[in-house]
Order: sequence, then structure tokens, then C-alpha cells
Amino acid sequence: MNASCCVVHFPNANYASLTLEPHQHLAEQLTVQNSPVLFGCRTGLCGTCLVTVTGELSPPSAAEQEILDMLAPGNPQARLACQIDVMGEIAIAPLTEVI
Ligand code: FES
Repeated sequence: MNASCCVVHFPNANYASLTLEPHQHLAEQLTVQNSPVLFGCRTGLCGTCLVTVTGELSPPSAAEQEILDMLAPGNPQARLACQIDVMGEIAIAPLTEVI
């Protein structure tokens, strides 16, 4: 894995893919201008950034999983975008969309 290996794709949305450094925070890199993902608290509490994700990323923390169990029970692709640790190529979409 090189230093700029992490590509974020937005399937079914009219946004260009972004290339990030490993472990950059999506909440600091995604904006309303460059992605379909909206953020609120950016601390993993409000659920505004609920998305579906496929690709290379770390598993959710216990705190994130607790929120996911409330907001998207049984959906293994559901994540809070503000809590994702990007480690490779991913595809991300607001949870109402299908990847
Ligand atoms: S922005 Fe609030 S949980 Fe991610």
C-alpha cells in the first residue's frame, strides 16, 4: 500500500472519485461540493453521515457499532462516514442509495 492509495468512489452520484492518504478522516475531506455525504456532529453521535460502504476499511469501533445497531440493524455495509478509517479503495453512498 503506497502513501496515496485510498480512492473514494461515489457510485450513482455525479461526483468525481477522491484520492486520500491512508487514515485521513472522511469528515475532514468530504464536503457538500465534492461528495453526496452530509455530516453533522462529526463525532459519531448524530447519525447524519450514515452511509453504505464497500471496500477496504477498518471495522467499526464498539461505540460506532452501537449507533449502527440502532440506525441500520442487520446491515453489515452501514457505517458512519465520520468514523471510517480509510485504508484502501472504497465505494460510499448515503444509506438511502444502493451501491
Ligand atoms: S456526523 Fe454525526 S455521526 Fe457522523
